[in-house]
Amino acid sequence: MTNFWTTLAKPILALAPMAGVTDTAFRQLCKAYGADVIYTEFASADALVYENKKTRAMLAYAPAEQPVVCQIFGHKPEVFFKAVKILEEMGFAGVDINFGCPAYKIVRSGGGVKLMRNLNLCYELVQAACEASSLPVSLKLRASIRRGANTNDKVENSTDEVDAYECNLDVVTALNLVEKIKTCL
Ligand SMILES: Cc1cc2nc3c(=O)[nH]c(=O)nc-3n(C[C@H](O)[C@H](O)[C@H](O)COP(=O)(O)O)c2cc1C
Repeated sequence: MTNFWTTLAKPILALAPMAGVTDTAFRQLCKAYGADVIYTEFASADALVYENKKTRAMLAYAPAEQPVVCQIFGHKPEVFFKAVKILEEMGFAGVDINFGCPAYKIVRSGGGVKLMRNLNLCYELVQAACEASSLPVSLKLRASIRRGANTNDKVENSTDEVDAYECNLDVVTALNLVEKIKTCL
């Protein structure tokens, strides 16, 4: 399968994933107004694997939206492996892994930005996603989880490591983790 990212003219105009916002109607509008690539709202990898009906319904897309990338969150490599296989069957053009969400309910369950405290687990999740299918995998992560240069360096080094899996690492939320949620990490 051709990696669709390599076929897009630059600069690439992408619709960012937004939970509760980027449903199919919104995405179709953005596509009609010029978005080159569309992201779904994030979906729980566990919910996908357990065939949660709400999650499946949330991920329904119109063919005109393609290329559509499905963003997933979670923290279990074996679940990511199965979830990515399902996404390939559903016809998505790519998979994006959320390493940046600071929402309490995601962080509490071990996903989102919390994963950036455990870069080895991040590598395992990336590896599982890459090995599950031929879909291109991209990552959305934070430039730092703390204010200060050291964490930035660590994250920069980590992107070199996941490069080995030929991921697209061009989607970075260049924000530090906000102070107020530090306590739940
Ligand atoms: C309502 C809302 C929901 C969001 N949901 C997600 C999400 O599901 N996954 C994600 O990676 N980012 C999510 N984001 C972050 C956005 O994708 C984006 O990175 C952020 O708004 C910063 O982009 P901006 O500087 O253009 O606002 C959300 C943002 C907003 C405002």
